[in-house]
Parts: sequence; structure tokens; C-alpha cells
Amino acid sequence: MFEEQVQLRIPGPTPVPPRVMRAAAKPIVNHRGAVFRELYREVTEQLRQIFQTSGDVALITGSGTAAMEAAVANLVSPGEKVLVLCGGKFGERWAEIARAFGARVVEWRYDWRQGAEPEELAARLAAEPDVVAVFATHNESSTGVMNDIRALSAARRVASTGRRPLLVVDSVSALGGAPLAMDEWEVDAVVSGSQKCLMVPPGLSLVALGPQAAARLEETRNHRYYLDLRAYRKAAAKGEGPYTPAVSLVHALQEALSMLAEEGLEKAYARHRLMRDMIRAGVKALGLPLFTGERWASPTVTAVAGPEGLDVEAFRRLVRQQFGVELAGGQGELSGRIFRIGHMGYAGPLDMISALAAIEQGLAKMGYPVQLGSGVAAAQEVWSRWG
Ligand SMILES: Cc1ncc(COP(=O)(O)O)c(C=O)c1O
Repeated sequence: MFEEQVQLRIPGPTPVPPRVMRAAAKPIVNHRGAVFRELYREVTEQLRQIFQTSGDVALITGSGTAAMEAAVANLVSPGEKVLVLCGGKFGERWAEIARAFGARVVEWRYDWRQGAEPEELAARLAAEPDVVAVFATHNESSTGVMNDIRALSAARRVASTGRRPLLVVDSVSALGGAPLAMDEWEVDAVVSGSQKCLMVPPGLSLVALGPQAAARLEETRNHRYYLDLRAYRKAAAKGEGPYTPAVSLVHALQEALSMLAEEGLEKAYARHRLMRDMIRAGVKALGLPLFTGERWASPTVTAVAGPEGLDVEAFRRLVRQQFGVELAGGQGELSGRIFRIGHMGYAGPLDMISALAAIEQGLAKMGYPVQLGSGVAAAQEVWSRWG
């Protein structure tokens, strides 16, 4: 009976607001006609507000990884050296894509419980002055770590040469839920996807380019066709995509971006911080170890280390089957060692209360010593103190 009420508390895809689903059900229009051109122009303008850029934003039919691949293929030539911040699964994905496109990849591996230290970025670039681009992950969904993109951007000028490599940021699980002032922070390229903080079903990916990155498109020598961003720029000038876009998802995106604008971006960011603080307080009150410290705590997803003696995968199964809350597991080397609570997109404080209640029930059923209500009470405290 409650199949349609499962709470998706995973770091994407996220629940889609009914308003957005209704928009996705609008009649299909001619993607080369005036109505779609108007829609495309409006959505592009709305996206500029979210990326906080005056640059181009390409709308690609594909998941977030398509946007990552587009960024690599269009900004790096074979043989060029890139530095990749590898603090989790998605940082590793940047490295894999860059290698697939022939780049010489320098992996900067750091503790998965932490973000990348800006001073260390400066030191690494000083040691590798021929790096042409730095690939970073804004929010590491696999660990619940948020990097300080503003500070990383500021740290990337190579003192000896005065040169500054491109900064390319994966904000798939942060854009719309955490600030990212692309132009002000001088980030050259940002990629994202529809199915996380943007509250749209999976299937659209986005690439925003600053002026330096846009200039690189013409210089890069790499194979590309469907993801050739030059084609997207050319078509965008006419208010179109180069190929048949996912028209229904573009309708959905327009509606979701309108919702975000109605709420106000600053308020949306604050709502995400509130959810983070509620979840962290609740988890702590239950005596469960948080995977990351306060400094790096993500506003969109929280990772919880499996406590001694708890079978994390059995616990997740039980919470889903008996209490209707879907938690995410660990990825890669963290599989079976952590679980993750997604708190991004169409979610608010009350959703955090019910997620914590289900976690408490699940722990109790698993025989883990837990005082029912203690996590919920701690989260309520945070909520009640919130402006
Ligand atoms: C930080 C991050 N980057 C990239 C991706 C890849 O996106 P997709 O699965 O849509 O290809 C994800 C998806 O979970 C993500 O969280």
C-alpha cells in the first residue's frame, strides 16, 4: 500500500515536486519551433542565475557523467597534464574520464573524510607548473564532503609563472543546494545534473563555461561529436539545442527553477544547511559516528560510519522494507562501511525528522542500543533554534 510513499533519502535521484512532474507532462512541442525556442531561452537564463554566471550554459540530454565527459573532451587535448582532486568516487571519475581522453593525469589523493586543502593545491601546482586544468568535485556525494571551491580557485595561481590553470568543477550534487558563484569565484567550468538539488527527473546535464574555458573549445584537439560544446553554443544562439532535446525534462527544469527562484537561492541554501545540521545532531545523539568533521560537512548528503557490530547493508534493507525510507550505501571502498542520508532538493525539516525516526526504529530492530526519540529530539532542538 505504501509503495509510492518511499522516502528517497539518497544523494540523487531525489523526489520530484508534483508541480514539476505536471510540467513534465505538458504536450511535446516542436524543438525547432518558436514555443520551444522561448522555453530554451528562458531556461538558459534561469540557469545562469543558479550558476551565477553570465557565460554559456549547455543543456545536454544525458546524466551528470555526460557533462563531465563533455568538459574533459572539450577542454583538454591528448598529452596535456591535468591535476585531479581524488577525495572520493566522483573525484576518481574525473581521473578515469581524463585518462580515457588521453590526458596525463596527476591524481591528488587525500583522506576521504576531508576536503582538499587550498594551500596544498598551491604547492602541488608550483611543483607541476605545466598542469593545464584542475578537476575538482564541489560536493563528494560518496563521502558527504564539501570542498571549498572559492578558496581552491583563489589558490590556483602558479606564483613562478603567474599562470592559472583552468578550474573545472563537478557540482552535480550541490548546484542549487549550496552556493557556487561561478563568475565571482572565477571558476572556469561547472558541470551539473538535473536529478539532485534541481528537483528534476534524471536525464539532463549541464555545462557552464566561463570566458577562458569557452576560448579553449576552439583550441582543444580531442575527439568529440555528440558532446562537442561548439555545436551547443552555435545552436544556443538560435535558442535551440543541436539535437533533439529531452523536451519534457526541459519543461520540468523550467518549473523547478521557477520554484527555486520563488524560494530564493539564499533561502534554499539555508534550508539545506538546516537539514544538514538536523541530521548531524540526530546522528550524534544516537551515538553513531559521523564520517566527516564539521569543517567539511556537506549540506546535501551526510555519511554515517557503520558502528561496531552493525550490518550496514542489512540495516538499510530493513529501514527501507519496514519503515519506507531509502538510505544510500557506501560506494567503492566504503561499500558496507557507511550509509548515506541524502538531504537535497525537494526536502525540508520534517523529512529529516521522519528519516531519523526510521533510522531509530531500524537500529532498535537490529538490536543496536538506541533510545527511541533521542535522535529526533536533537534534530527538533536544532530546528527550533533555527531563525
Ligand atoms: C558528485 C557527483 N558527480 C557526478 C555524478 C554522476 O552523475 P550521473 O550518475 O548522473 O551520471 C554524481 C551522481 O551521483 C555525483 O553525485
